[in-house]
Amino acid sequence: MDDHQFADADLAALYDVLHPWDPRGDFGFYLPLVMAAESVLDVGCGTGALLHRARAEGHTGRLCGLDPAAGMLQQARTRTDIEWVQGELSSVDWADEFDLVVMSGHAFQVFATDDELRSSLAAISAALTEDGCFAFETRNPAARAWQRWTPEHVREVTDQQGAVVRSWHELEEPVTGDVVSFVTTYSSPLWPQPQRSRSTLRFLGAVELAKFLTDAGLRVVEQFGDWDRTPVTQDSLEIITLAKPS
Ligand SMILES: C[S@@+](CC[C@H](N)C(=O)[O-])C[C@H]1O[C@@H](n2cnc3c(N)ncnc32)[C@H](O)[C@@H]1O
Repeated sequence: MDDHQFADADLAALYDVLHPWDPRGDFGFYLPLVMAAESVLDVGCGTGALLHRARAEGHTGRLCGLDPAAGMLQQARTRTDIEWVQGELSSVDWADEFDLVVMSGHAFQVFATDDELRSSLAAISAALTEDGCFAFETRNPAARAWQRWTPEHVREVTDQQGAVVRSWHELEEPVTGDVVSFVTTYSSPLWPQPQRSRSTLRFLGAVELAKFLTDAGLRVVEQFGDWDRTPVTQDSLEIITLAKPS
């Protein structure tokens, strides 16, 4: 079992099948921001789908993807006109060089401890240019998404070989505080055995999130509860934030 989801190349190859491009979803929201920025850092870039699309649509500036998972970056590197860096924010030292730092696919929630949040936000703040923007989303804890992460909720997708891959989550209970751990199992008739991957995600509310951002020298300039740019309410699934250096 792997602590970095999708470190394994087979699962990484499946990632884009499980998370197809949705123009009304996160990529549809972030792509115009990427296209409008001269230099872009995608933290937790995964298979690189967002930056791939930006380059394909004519972005001519600097595009850089950072991710610790070798399998994910193997997919990302199918495009060689983008910088790909294997690692985490603690292993890089960018200063005043990106107009946009983006984290999509709820990658922000991997920062589970206060220390990780503080050091990651400090690195993002340092990497941004003076008028740069940090754009990311985190699931609204009020919507309690983890309550649906149970084995009864099975997803089925057809992979590139035509095999039906099933996946489901098992929550580690009890859930206390704002940190949620779960194991995802993937099974395919083409694999000798199912693959399991453990994840830990933090669910920060808007008030706490704003405190961490402020401490890192960032201020919230816009916040939305959904990809259609409606405001955050108690029922919103997402807290989508655009923050700038204060
Ligand atoms: C759910 S995926 C999202 C991938 C991509 N951003 C997307 O929207 O498709 C989360 C990604 O975060 C990466 N990740 C895990 N821990 C990380 C860390 N400490 N720093 C940066 N990325 C991390 C994982 O390897 C994975 O590729």
